[in-house]
Amino acid sequence: MTGEGWTEESSLVYQALSRVAVPRRAEQMATILALLPIVPDEDFVAVELGCGEGFLSAALLEAYPRMRVVALDGSEEMRASAGVRLERFGSRAEIRDFDLMSNDWLPALDGAGAVVSSLVIHHLDDAGKQNLFREVRARISPSGSLLIADLVHPARHEATSMMAGSYDESVKARSIQLAGDLRLWDRFDSEDWNHFRTPDVEVDKPSVLADQLRWLSEAGFETADCFWMFAGHALYGGFGSPAGSEAPVGYERALEVAHGILGE
Ligand SMILES: C[S@@+](CC[C@H](N)C(=O)[O-])C[C@H]1O[C@@H](n2cnc3c(N)ncnc32)[C@H](O)[C@@H]1O
Repeated sequence: MTGEGWTEESSLVYQALSRVAVPRRAEQMATILALLPIVPDEDFVAVELGCGEGFLSAALLEAYPRMRVVALDGSEEMRASAGVRLERFGSRAEIRDFDLMSNDWLPALDGAGAVVSSLVIHHLDDAGKQNLFREVRARISPSGSLLIADLVHPARHEATSMMAGSYDESVKARSIQLAGDLRLWDRFDSEDWNHFRTPDVEVDKPSVLADQLRWLSEAGFETADCFWMFAGHALYGGFGSPAGSEAPVGYERALEVAHGILGE
């Protein structure tokens, strides 16, 4: 992957930073696992857009033994890393190249039960996200869901500094927890990774959360809601079916799986 957007260099920097740069990552992963409307005894296909190192796909496969995951990413470096992580799941995991900015990969969504994505959709502008939501709704199963973890754009300007500050605080606390000092924070800071402090508007185009929930409804999802938010990061999505019964994997189990996959 080359060009002005996400590059192979971005993948290397992200791999070095992700343990601190993704706030409350295990919580985010567990929230997705616990929200998926899956009937336990049925085969199920999930598609992950921009799987990166494959942590979320691995958690899905671990939590749901009858699930198959198609993990898409445009970076060779990321696909290689995901390949190592997902190898133990054999044919239940399929890793493929894709370019989020094109439409030629969209048939990979046909008939899927769920589409998930973490920290990728914000590379699309408003129109691109609306197009994606419509395509996902039209192509996945009628009861299928789209669950997104991502940066969101503050609806009020004053919220920008709050998001920047809470994101920094989260990274500092995580750096101390993992390294015993601020050296991981220093790297995060020197890479200007805090989008709310130093936005790279050519690459990162997060949209207002309320707008995205409306676009999900307009695309035809029955329920659209936000389920988690912290430090400018939100977890939200659309469901094709009305609220169901209890999720097959409860939150506590989902959190245990997420911590295990992250090696925490
Ligand atoms: C911030 S990382 C997130 C990775 C992973 N989902 C996670 O949460 O750790 C963004 C990912 O999106 C991929 N990506 C960015 N732009 C892309 C594009 N235009 N087409 C395909 N993949 C892209 C990158 O290769 C990278 O793996």
